[in-house]
Amino acid sequence: MKIILGIGGGIAAYKAAELARLLMQQDHQVRVVMTSAAQQFVQPLTFAALTGQKVLTDLFAIESAIEHISVAQEHEVLVIAPATANLMAKLAHGLADDFLTTLYLAFTGPVVIAPTMNVNMWQHPATQANLETLRRRGHRIVEPDSGYLACGMTGPGRLADPETIADAIAQETQKRRDLEGEVVLLTAGPTQEPLDPVRYISNRSSGKMGYALAEAAAARGAQVTLISGPVHLPAPRGVEVIHVRTAAEMREKVFDHLTPASIVIKAAAVADFHLSKVPDQKVKKTAARISMELDPTPDILAELGRKKGDRLLVGFAAETENLAQEARRKLESKNCDMIVGNLVGGSDLGFESDENEVILVLSSGETIPLPRASKRVIADRIFDEVLTLRLTLHSANGH
Ligand code: CTP
Repeated sequence: MKIILGIGGGIAAYKAAELARLLMQQDHQVRVVMTSAAQQFVQPLTFAALTGQKVLTDLFAIESAIEHISVAQEHEVLVIAPATANLMAKLAHGLADDFLTTLYLAFTGPVVIAPTMNVNMWQHPATQANLETLRRRGHRIVEPDSGYLACGMTGPGRLADPETIADAIAQETQKRRDLEGEVVLLTAGPTQEPLDPVRYISNRSSGKMGYALAEAAAARGAQVTLISGPVHLPAPRGVEVIHVRTAAEMREKVFDHLTPASIVIKAAAVADFHLSKVPDQKVKKTAARISMELDPTPDILAELGRKKGDRLLVGFAAETENLAQEARRKLESKNCDMIVGNLVGGSDLGFESDENEVILVLSSGETIPLPRASKRVIADRIFDEVLTLRLTLHSANGH
């Protein structure tokens, strides 16, 4: 495999030499890129000798002005080890002021990042926010080990072992273009049902789970369309995002895009009721109490269940009690193949959180609990089970 090894300027840069040697022993081709800070710690010559290739250092001292593009295109995986706090911040925000950061933006394949830094720098909210951005982008983070650090402190921050990083690279590259050829239609976020021109009914859904699913599907090679209610999340890379506001708009867009879809996942928290006749003007506070008659919104998932054809249909159930029973009831009543159930309200998980803990209730009769993990990890597990279920259903139908 052709690997780019990007080296940031930490004391652990010397450990990258061991990683380069290990990857060479595993018969990979390794092209090293060093930041200028990295060169303060280790000479490029060390890596040139280990890899048998010239080390890339300076954006402006190379053979061609577009070498970062050609290097990006020629390699299959980008590994950044060690990644310092500064380098992670640049990657998270898309700053491109040297060869490595420019190459990162031009690179479209899997990215593995192994951070290292002082424990306080690691735990700083800025670093943790950057880490979350990179993780949500679908990059594989090889967490630092805990132990004695060069700064004299003890805690998380030590670069992971070269073997651990090499394993992560292997896993990242072996996976997973397993959704190639699939067309995934997703919904995410809440809907907003207007009460007048300035007010609406909505719910606490942040859209994070649906966006994580979109990211995971795109990273695994699917063509993805995401119909999104109002959320504050950036469009995932390679995903077509269509913004809607109300349940009625969401329904319209879902059915506009249904025909080519092979997998449909309804992660959106659709409002169940709306005001059919929305007043043109703002409602005034003329009475001490007002009441409103709300009508049900279209149940998009139930309609999808009736029109699903060969598609695999996944719904969500956010419950405050009787999770497994409610999830199975929805699976059956809405003719789904899988319901992802999670408990909401009262816990720190669910709607607004970056993490989740869910159960997968399957039409095969199985129920699979997925322990607490980031929504991005849960998203990949959901697709793993979707693919397994697809195989089970196909063999049951004699395909
Ligand atoms: N759903 C939908 N259209 C609606 C309501 C819900 O498509 N009008 C979908 C959601 O996207 C989700 C699933 O149905 O995938 C379950 O949503 P939920 O609100 O938990 O279920 P309801 O059927 O509304 O049941 P209840 O409110 O009674 O729990």
